[in-house]
Amino acid sequence: MRRPDLTLALFPLLALAACGTTPTSAPMDHHGHGAHHRGHRFDDDPAQWAKRFDDPARDAWQKPDAVIARLGLAADAQVADVGAGTGYFAVRLARAVPHGAVWAADIEPTMVAWLADRAAREDVVNLRPLLAKPADPALPTPVDVIFICNTWHHVADRPAWLKAATAQLKPGGRIAILDYRVDFEGDGPPKDLRLTQEAVIAELQAAGFSLQDREDGEFPRQYLLVFGRPTP
Ligand SMILES: C[S@@+](CC[C@H](N)C(=O)[O-])C[C@H]1O[C@@H](n2cnc3c(N)ncnc32)[C@H](O)[C@@H]1O
Repeated sequence: MRRPDLTLALFPLLALAACGTTPTSAPMDHHGHGAHHRGHRFDDDPAQWAKRFDDPARDAWQKPDAVIARLGLAADAQVADVGAGTGYFAVRLARAVPHGAVWAADIEPTMVAWLADRAAREDVVNLRPLLAKPADPALPTPVDVIFICNTWHHVADRPAWLKAATAQLKPGGRIAILDYRVDFEGDGPPKDLRLTQEAVIAELQAAGFSLQDREDGEFPRQYLLVFGRPTP
């Protein structure tokens, strides 16, 4: 008898695991946990990922408007959303900087193509899709803010990434990292893949960045850490 295609059958579960919305009770280990290592790929159908990443129900806990307000972006700011996925934050960031621009960077060409289609479909004229490298955001011009949501724990060589990113920030530029708290007990990436705030702060400080803002009360699942670029 022909065996069912497990990949298709498990897709919703795998997608949830990867975007950090898997119920912790879900049996992730038949693929989920093993595949949700730092090198996990998001190279399959972006339309399927969009159902997860852009689920309107996400807004209730993600609080995108509050996150963006916290960044205090100027209307003409140059911003990069690295690990932009299907554009959940990138589109909102672009609307928050109407006289600026947002590079929506991802290492998956499928995501970059999706972002280009989405920008055209939703008439987001200041959103610029960009193919990043795993250890290099690859921004063509320096930006004011690099924003990274639910992606930092996927970056394998973070010291190399930070070295590259430093050169792609304007003087006074910032990196904002939004990711899952280790002690959050609900949906989210497997706990052993999450990074504590202290670990993230230590690796950014080792690269010369200084902690400028820290929020872990307003956002129910996550912490937001904002760092200033090393002074040359
Ligand atoms: C869990 S998704 C988050 C998507 C989006 N930030 C959001 O919050 O909806 C992680 C995304 O980061 C991308 N990614 C993983 N490693 C990356 C890297 N080193 N540089 C840039 N993007 C990366 C993946 O391809 C994927 O689209």
